[in-house]
Amino acid sequence: MGVSNALNINDLRMLAQKRLPRMVFDYIDGGADDEHTLRNNTQRFRDRELLWNVLVNVSEIDLSTRVMGLDLPLPFILAPTAAQRLFHPHLGELATARAANRHGVAYGVSTLATQTLEDIAEAHPGPKIFQLYVWKNRALLEGILERAKAAGYTGLVLTVDLPVMGNRERDPRNGFSVPVQLNTKTIPQALTRPGYLIDLMRGGPAVPANFNTADNKDALDRENGRFDPSISWEYLTWLRDQWDGPLGIKGLSRPDDARRALDAGVDTIWISNHGGRQLDTCPATIDTLGPIADAINGQADIILDGGIRRGTDIIKALALGANAVAVGRAYLYGLAAGGEAGVSRAIEILSAETRRGMELMGRRSLKELSAEDVVG
Ligand SMILES: Cc1cc2nc3c(=O)[nH]c(=O)nc-3n(C[C@H](O)[C@H](O)[C@H](O)COP(=O)(O)O)c2cc1C
Repeated sequence: MGVSNALNINDLRMLAQKRLPRMVFDYIDGGADDEHTLRNNTQRFRDRELLWNVLVNVSEIDLSTRVMGLDLPLPFILAPTAAQRLFHPHLGELATARAANRHGVAYGVSTLATQTLEDIAEAHPGPKIFQLYVWKNRALLEGILERAKAAGYTGLVLTVDLPVMGNRERDPRNGFSVPVQLNTKTIPQALTRPGYLIDLMRGGPAVPANFNTADNKDALDRENGRFDPSISWEYLTWLRDQWDGPLGIKGLSRPDDARRALDAGVDTIWISNHGGRQLDTCPATIDTLGPIADAINGQADIILDGGIRRGTDIIKALALGANAVAVGRAYLYGLAAGGEAGVSRAIEILSAETRRGMELMGRRSLKELSAEDVVG
């Protein structure tokens, strides 16, 4: 089966598993501790059920939405994810950007991208958001906001659920770290995937490309020490002053934090638990949406991510109050399985499933969805 035959996101996941050495697949696929939140993010979508209305003229369906000042033809965006040249050694983020551009889908680009934010912007002139992590060594990221603005990123989002790395046990078990070290655990895994290995050798090491260092390697030393765990709400207020475009905060789970973020002047609350990769046993994101939507009462946009694998998951999140959702692994599986064509296939699958779900529910536009459409 090639990516064009993939019927759903799980098919792309299986293709990614065939293509990648186990350590790289597990880095995408895995979560923190016992992976309770990772599993629950998806499960809690399945626990909810959809009701439909009959005899509605659904010959025209409008899936467009507006979020972070962006007019989007589809209600999902590609979530920021690090190190994509590990998953697709040849092009990484450029493959994602080209596919997103082809479909007019917004792309959230990670601070830890392995292509420069400028090259990604060139491949994707359309709607884009830059995602910020804050480093202990602030000099590493000096000028990054000006660069993002100059390159055409209109929205900025600060990720706040990662003061330190979560405990992802698949990685040490596989001997895996970023960048990949060759050792007695990793070499045998790599040898089982010669196609990937050849690509990796051609592409060179996948290191972050956005830092102000000669070889970008300083940004990678000491996995746990590189993020600044001391940043607090003052930093968000400072950031608000620096960035005059739409500002989002990514990684919220509580109404009290959502209200504080509103007070700090953010435009978008991005509900996320980092795809279950950070604090394990926190609730599935879909379970935190209702209380947060109530607390902010329309004063900011809401994006939700975590566990979305089907168009019906997207519909449930929109019906329960999100303005848009974001997907992470869904497109990364596609990227790993088939580069630009794989990301494109993931977008096609989610878009077709969302459209079909709306048709079957008798809903012609996202405005027509409401919490009453969801049971459970
Ligand atoms: C491999 C991988 C790398 C990620 N890297 C980042 C990152 O650099 N910045 C960030 O804000 N979130 C990052 N995330 C979290 C995603 O933005 C998103 O919150 C998460 O993937 C959503 O869950 P889902 O994968 O179930 O869709 C990453 C997620 C994965 C799977």
